[in-house]
Amino acid sequence: MKPIYTLSNDEYAELYRVLDGVGKNPYEEYEAFSQAVRDLVERGEVPQFFVDVANRIRAEREAGTSDAHVIRNCPIDPELPELGDEDPVAVKHVAKRTFIGEALLELFAQLAGNPLLAYARNWGDFFTDVVAIRKYSGMLTGYSDSELFFHNDRTAHDVRADYIALLGMRCPGNDLIYTGFIDGRAMLNELTEHDQAMLRRPYYITPFDVFSKEKNESLTFSEVHSILENHHSFRYLDTSTTTAPGSPVEAKDALLALKDALAKVEKQRHRILERDLFLLANQDGLHSREKIEINDPAEARKRWLLKTYAFRDDAAADRHADKWLDSVRGRVAD
Ligand SMILES: [Fe+2]
Repeated sequence: MKPIYTLSNDEYAELYRVLDGVGKNPYEEYEAFSQAVRDLVERGEVPQFFVDVANRIRAEREAGTSDAHVIRNCPIDPELPELGDEDPVAVKHVAKRTFIGEALLELFAQLAGNPLLAYARNWGDFFTDVVAIRKYSGMLTGYSDSELFFHNDRTAHDVRADYIALLGMRCPGNDLIYTGFIDGRAMLNELTEHDQAMLRRPYYITPFDVFSKEKNESLTFSEVHSILENHHSFRYLDTSTTTAPGSPVEAKDALLALKDALAKVEKQRHRILERDLFLLANQDGLHSREKIEINDPAEARKRWLLKTYAFRDDAAADRHADKWLDSVRGRVAD
């Protein structure tokens, strides 16, 4: 995918210097960290080019021009710890002592007007990781080294992000791993009015992913849900979302039509490089992970993306205000 903007090396250095001044640990005191980033914005310290690119992305989202963007050559931490594949997040908490990548993600979220979302099961962290954990190898979770069919994140959960941001921290150069993206509007064009109407009915269920089930045994299936919501949001995990018991046969026909649409629809693909910030809609589209060519599986398993979940805007976040844990805005139990 063609980046909407590529930072020059001078711009990289300028933005890095600003982010380096945040001076808070986002894993120990997220609110203070977030406030320190807000202070940078309010003091006018953020370079104008970055404000401008955030505004362009915001405008393209609002106009319906695009819901997937890449900003290339973004500041990341100069030294990255080896996370291993046993318990990489625990290692990160101990070994990562600079927070340039986190500050970049927080800054973009603030400029784009997208409050961040955190889940208790991810240690309550607002900055999570796409990394391979050995015990999930071959399974359908972001914590695996597997391919992932088209889906949105947290399909089965009640609180779901509107946007996802992925920052390339460690991306092995010899392995071709691509993130696919399908715009929900393109999916609508492939579906008849009748199929769309069926997909808007609560005839479907999605099993919880292996990671969620492990953290909470009571999670088995979502409540019954519609697949198509809002104008073009798709709540769907391919090969997992299915018809609920007792649903009419037309619901299964619509599911088959959806699978045909998935095969036919135009897809965008992006290979996330180190220092790429990839921004995509989580509900108004579907995404995937494809391993196109793996030359060194051990290196490929070291791939590390820093990730945030975000709400569309303040109003979308505030709709879940009764669910905040520890009174921290955006942190939910789910
Ligand atoms: Fe995902």
